[in-house]
Amino acid sequence: MHTQAVVNQKGGCGKTTTAIHVATFLARQGRRTLLVDLDPQGHATLGLGLTSAASSQGTYEVLIGTRGLEEVLVEGPIPNLAIATASISLAAVEQLLAGRERREARLRDALATLTETARFDEVVLDCPPSLGLLTFNGLWAADRVLVPIDPSVFSLDGLQRLCETITLVEATSGRVIPRDAVLTMFDRRTRFGRDLAATVADAHPREAALLRSRVRVCTRLREAALRGVPVTELDIHCNGFRDYRALTDELLDRREQGGAPLANVCEAAQAGDQASDRVTLTDFEVVDHSVTGSVRGPAPDWLNVEPIAPFPSVAGVAGVYGPIPIKGGVIVRFRDPQAKEVKIAGSFNDWRPDENVITRREEDGTWQKIVFAHPGSYEYRLVVDGDWEADPNNEAQVANSLGGVNSVLHV
Ligand SMILES: Nc1ncnc2c1ncn2[C@@H]1O[C@H](COP(=O)(O)OP(=O)(O)OP(=O)(O)O)[C@@H](O)[C@H]1O
Ligand SMILES: [Mg+2]
Repeated sequence: MHTQAVVNQKGGCGKTTTAIHVATFLARQGRRTLLVDLDPQGHATLGLGLTSAASSQGTYEVLIGTRGLEEVLVEGPIPNLAIATASISLAAVEQLLAGRERREARLRDALATLTETARFDEVVLDCPPSLGLLTFNGLWAADRVLVPIDPSVFSLDGLQRLCETITLVEATSGRVIPRDAVLTMFDRRTRFGRDLAATVADAHPREAALLRSRVRVCTRLREAALRGVPVTELDIHCNGFRDYRALTDELLDRREQGGAPLANVCEAAQAGDQASDRVTLTDFEVVDHSVTGSVRGPAPDWLNVEPIAPFPSVAGVAGVYGPIPIKGGVIVRFRDPQAKEVKIAGSFNDWRPDENVITRREEDGTWQKIVFAHPGSYEYRLVVDGDWEADPNNEAQVANSLGGVNSVLHV
């Protein structure tokens, strides 16, 4: 049984789409495949048409130890594909397991029970956009790591931090975890798309950890996610189908060849740091650097998190907007039915939009941002379709260095 973790703490870089489709193409080759959703957002679960009603038990129960992995598996929409589903309750795992021994090895131990029954050939892990305990579980369990990189300056920066984390896992687990990187949402027509590819490729004069396959921008992939099926069930002629089929084949080839040397992805990240000065921000992402002045803190100290349980209820807040205190954090509610994407960035996540944040979008266009942080006051702004703005539902504001205002929340 081979376990492939799809990891990048940067949000929205294509992890879930990649995990779903690599799992799908493995399954289509007749390999018995398990997709484990490790993200409290449950996007892989939703993306395969499963709702929490269809799967009341999932990865959460496995990690906290109330169910065995075999007990929670659900059949996927295509043959040979099973899923361990996720729901928002997964967000509580970090707190619930604080102080427990081998908490980072829970998934690995659960997967070991499957090895005994030889039920699966392949396991694909969809990790959340953070470097907390859930991602640690994914890395701990992984035979190999696949890092999707989308065209944004934050992707390469995230890579370097991810490399440090993988190295830590390697050092503590005493084994090597080969890493591959794949460009996602690739658009050769934009200068940044080409620059990014060149930047990462330049860092790999040797046989590259950056895979040859690239996943092009493909609206059919978005459509498939909305319909809750892999793209294979929607359109077998689109780029998404071709690109993920090629990616899966390449991954299998590399596995047989033994894979790339370890340092490559980290080198790419370092090269990317320099390259990101070169590119024009307006080419790809509107980012207001007025608010990125805070120095990045140390990696999340999940080892020291105090237990905060049970997971806060978010019921009873309909019609209430702005920050709502919960145990261990804050929910920021914001309504904009027209907004395609709302993110939150603040001093609690080093002004990295949506990092360490759980998002829920309700049908009426209300966005809920669940922020966990240590007690204290934090400045933040909302990023609505790329525009950074103060929270209109929060009167607590402070002036920022550029003459604008930041909103303030308290944990
Ligand atoms: N190649 C692509 N072309 C077009 N849209 C894509 C592509 N890959 C992913 N998307 C879309 O981009 C969005 C983010 O992708 P996805 O959910 O896979 O990212 P993620 O890294 O898992 O995000 P998160 O960090 O929140 O878990 C989704 O709406 C998805 O449908
Ligand atoms: Mg995801």
